Amino acid sequence: MKWSPILAALLLLVAACKRPAEEAVALSPQAAKGKAMFSTLCAACHAPSSKLVGPPLSEIAGLYRADPAGIVRWAVTPGRKRADVPPMPSFRGVRESDLADIAQYIIEAGTAAGKQGP
Ligand code: HEC
Repeated sequence: MKWSPILAALLLLVAACKRPAEEAVALSPQAAKGKAMFSTLCAACHAPSSKLVGPPLSEIAGLYRADPAGIVRWAVTPGRKRADVPPMPSFRGVRESDLADIAQYIIEAGTAAGKQGP
């Protein structure tokens, strides 16, 4: 078993790299419910602190911290604000209670990402 020390070292390295900053954020029960749906529906275009297609969660949290229902309204009927990106698709087919859970997740994860910096 000549390879096993190398394998063990590799496994240790992988374990050391897996420091999911996101997991460190303590989420409320509502945000925890929204997290999985966010991953399925929104994460392709929205990341915690960097711009993908859409703005980062830190920016969204800054805009909607006091108005989570505003995120739900936007997701049902997206507006047009940023000229350098394509329009966001509507999520009017998703239950509004699910969108509210997603909104809570965006605010909590985005607030945490904003504090950590980019
Ligand atoms: C296909 C890509 C895509 C997906 C998927 C997507 N978005 Fe977006 N989102 C965008 C883009 C692009 C913008 C910026 C549009 C603009 O400013 O004109 C945006 C902007 C936003 C904003 C900012 C609104 C504001 O007032 O500035 C919110 C909130 C938002 N998205 C929520 C969501 C939620 C919630 C989901 C999942 C249910 C989602 N998005 C899924 C692309 C996406």
